[in-house]
Amino acid sequence: MNKRIKIIGLLAVLGALLLPVLVNAADDKKKAEEMPLDPVTGMKMTGDWELVRNNCIICHSAQQFLRQKGTLVTWTEIVQWMQKDGGLWPLQPELEKKILGYLASNYGPSDAYRRAPIPATFMPTNPYESKIRKEVEEKRKAGLIPAKKP
Ligand code: HEC
Repeated sequence: MNKRIKIIGLLAVLGALLLPVLVNAADDKKKAEEMPLDPVTGMKMTGDWELVRNNCIICHSAQQFLRQKGTLVTWTEIVQWMQKDGGLWPLQPELEKKILGYLASNYGPSDAYRRAPIPATFMPTNPYESKIRKEVEEKRKAGLIPAKKP
């Protein structure tokens, strides 16, 4: 077979493989655009978003969790880690269920994810974490965050 024809054939196959991916990405973008965002926190204003806002942006900005994606399992691990290391207070089971439900359904893994997200406990040290911790400690000093439970 002629070399040029081979290359054209290869490109056509690649194009056909890529097309559904691109269409899917465009769909995701459209969906995201339809969801109204809270101008203050940037959170998707749907379901129990206010419960999440009330409990999760006292110590750090919503950006700390809005840039994360996770399944229900991952979000549960993140919240447990928050309680162990971040000073997050215990949550009523009903409330915790609603918070996790909101996070998992609005900030879940997108279709583009091929593997399950890495559990928070296995994540490498986050270079921005000390910044968050600093923010939290400053707020604690200023009395903006309720004191840690004994
Ligand atoms: C009492 C304070 C406090 C509250 C309330 C709190 N956090 Fe945090 N959060 C922290 C601290 C402190 C860190 C930084 C942890 C570190 O540096 O090890 C953090 C970090 C995070 C991170 C990691 C961000 C990153 O990019 O690494 C996520 C995600 C997160 N919090 C989600 C939440 C969610 C979801 C809630 C609500 C259920 C919440 N947090 C409520 C104190 C808090």
